[in-house]
Amino acid sequence: MEFAEDLLSALREAERVVVFTGAGVSAESGIPTFRDALTGLWEQYKAEELATEEAFLREPDLVWGWYEWRRLRVMRANPNPAHRAIVALARRIPKMTLVTQNVDDLHERAGSADVIHVHGSLFHPRCHACGQPFALGDEPPVEAEGARWLAPPRCRQCGGPVRPGVVWFGELLPEDQWDRATEATENCSLFLCVGTSSLVYPAAQLPHTAAYRQATVVQVNPHPTALDKVVRHNVVGLAGEAMPQLLAAAWPED
Ligand code: OAD
Repeated sequence: MEFAEDLLSALREAERVVVFTGAGVSAESGIPTFRDALTGLWEQYKAEELATEEAFLREPDLVWGWYEWRRLRVMRANPNPAHRAIVALARRIPKMTLVTQNVDDLHERAGSADVIHVHGSLFHPRCHACGQPFALGDEPPVEAEGARWLAPPRCRQCGGPVRPGVVWFGELLPEDQWDRATEATENCSLFLCVGTSSLVYPAAQLPHTAAYRQATVVQVNPHPTALDKVVRHNVVGLAGEAMPQLLAAAWPED
């Protein structure tokens, strides 16, 4: 893969970088992207119809069962070379901030610290009624393998139903995470989007903010996206291949 020399020098010289990831960064770990058709037990559903508060209130067991099925898949998956390249990049950049829209924990398991999860996490559910965090066990939820309906656990404080710790459509982003993501974006010189369709706002605003602030915006994605006209450099390829190659090209002595 060939990279423009000014992309490589921008990366080498950057003091502050934001890496902004989406479902595509976990695709090569076997986690389907949000817009892929659901398969198996879930093929008759649309993700957009399950990821709402209305759906949870109407059919809590169905929505909880779907998120537990996703959590099971994530627990059985492993980080891929793209996750690991982002860890390596953090060692090179004086201040790198990792902002993800993903609700999996593959960045953390690859070794990234302090990951900003703007859409929450499958691993941090809380009570729907009182907001109390609910501690999940360490064991994978194998019961989600063959069952579509699973009753959500009850809150140990108030007895309310426990909901997934993710941001559903129509909900606000977690304020602390969003503030940190915005602050890092406004102050970076290079903004690297990896594996995101950049369609879902407000998260998709971040690359536009970076471009407006004159940061070099770079995209890694095998397909066209809403950002194609915004980015300075468009690296067309799979994250698990392009990211390690980009690092090797920028720091060939490693
Ligand atoms: P999407 O499913 O919208 O987009 C995934 C992107 O990954 C697409 O642009 C694909 O072309 C790209 N892609 C697929 N395989 C790839 C690979 N191997 N390497 C690199 N890129 C690849 O996922 P997101 O952009 O993450 O929101 O979606 C953003 C948000 O929309 C999600 O967080 C979720 C969803 O609705 C909420 O749940 C609130």
